[in-house]
Amino acid sequence: MQKRIAVYPGSFDPIHNGHLDIIERCRPLFDEVLIAVLHNEGKSPLFSVEERVEIIRERVAHLADCRVESFTGLLVDFMERVGARAVVRGLRAVSDFEYEFQMALMNRRLNPRVETVFMMPREDYSYLSSRLVKEVYALGGDLTGLVPDPVLERLRERLRPAAVSPLGSR
Ligand code: PNS
Repeated sequence: MQKRIAVYPGSFDPIHNGHLDIIERCRPLFDEVLIAVLHNEGKSPLFSVEERVEIIRERVAHLADCRVESFTGLLVDFMERVGARAVVRGLRAVSDFEYEFQMALMNRRLNPRVETVFMMPREDYSYLSSRLVKEVYALGGDLTGLVPDPVLERLRERLRPAAVSPLGSR
């Protein structure tokens, strides 16, 4: 029987615990979870696509049914190449729904074999986004429990908060 592969696509700039929670939740439903990192250098991400792939690979290295790839172009074309039919997307709040609904229907229009599966992250992460992670970190806020420690380290290298800057207390 053909492997049931779920593609979990996103920018993951950077990955946070809400994303990791979705990965854990969809693992029992599929034979393989393929985390697909969008190559979106045009959007000036904080981390390069190579860094984002590396960060996620480190997080899922112990999971035999998970792999991580980057992709460019249409998601449905990538899915065809890897033999996947299901797209997994996290839904945090009703506000996510409109954009996700449009994408799901457009993807299905582009390739009728593609279905989108929405999953809700743990409630504690329902307000979490990569954008807020970067903003809060840059302003010196505490992200304990919201991102894995290696992501915090990478954020520290990239965005030193003013609070720990040698000039910050003057
Ligand atoms: O984490 P994000 O940034 O919300 O993820 C968006 C993503 C990567 C799923 C979406 O932008 C995407 O699939 N881009 C690939 C290009 C594509 O297929 N566009 C048409 C989508 S209907």
